[in-house]
Amino acid sequence: MKHLLSFSDAKNEAYEILELSGKFKERLIAGKPLEGKTLAMIFEKSSTRTRVSFEVGMYQLGGEALYLSINDLQIGRGEIIPDTARVMGRYVDGVMIRAIEHDDVEEFSKYSKVPVINGLTNKEHPCQVFADILTIYENKKSLNVHLAFLGDGNNVCNSLLLASAIFGMDMTVICPPGYEPNKEIIELALKYAKKSGSNIKITEKIGAVKGADVVYTDVWVSMGDENDESKRLKDLRNYQVNENIMKEAHPKAIVMHCLPAVRGQEITKEVIDGPQSVVWDQAENRLHAQKAILYKLLKEY
Ligand code: CP
Ligand code: NVA
Repeated sequence: MKHLLSFSDAKNEAYEILELSGKFKERLIAGKPLEGKTLAMIFEKSSTRTRVSFEVGMYQLGGEALYLSINDLQIGRGEIIPDTARVMGRYVDGVMIRAIEHDDVEEFSKYSKVPVINGLTNKEHPCQVFADILTIYENKKSLNVHLAFLGDGNNVCNSLLLASAIFGMDMTVICPPGYEPNKEIIELALKYAKKSGSNIKITEKIGAVKGADVVYTDVWVSMGDENDESKRLKDLRNYQVNENIMKEAHPKAIVMHCLPAVRGQEITKEVIDGPQSVVWDQAENRLHAQKAILYKLLKEY
């Protein structure tokens, strides 16, 4: 793996990255393995967790991170992506990009001689999902679980589908018509699932949450979807993760959310702040998982 643009790029390294994440969490990897290395972090959208976990992660590994808002770069004034990518590679050892369009990150990677990491696009959020898998494994001591994702089949859901199919987890996406995950991603996940044995389903039936070990949701209005806000809130209103939904899931089910959350929309306060929620551990795990990804991509580069 040279770049991490889609979770599928890490197909062959997924278990290794998961194991490394756990080792970083337990402080089993000593020293400053990325001493002298610099990561550029280009942001076209807001971020709390991704920015801080990558920045602190680089620091803890002995390297440095540069925060670059797209508005401060010449790319924001029209410099083309290939030129920016070629120049960046002369200064830094890796580039993490949070972009609106997935295609822009793909294009950047084509011209980049250094590894490119997707820090969220409209299509995927692979770095989030590495932290999610670590969180599930820590809580369930196995990945032989059923994850139910309720709500909008968005970027986080797309990466979760690929991860589930790669790690052999069962995943059901429960969403209203028109909010299904990306078609190509579903096809790819089904292909991986044939090999791993995971059961992947997409349904509009809320009852499919029955017995789920993991109940996951994300915002109904992702960054960039603000123009459709009122329609989305109306279409998705029956897909809220609340106490009634939790009664249908397994009694020991955990509740996950990548954050930021909107209490009262996709999830209630009682559930996200309740005893089944693991969202704070999940957020912490971004740091450990991001260190594993950086170690894997930048150390060997
Ligand atoms: N979950 C996540 O990526 O959060 P941020 O948008 O704060 O980075
Ligand atoms: N689906 C959300 C995730 C935020 C981390 C968004 O794209 O805004």
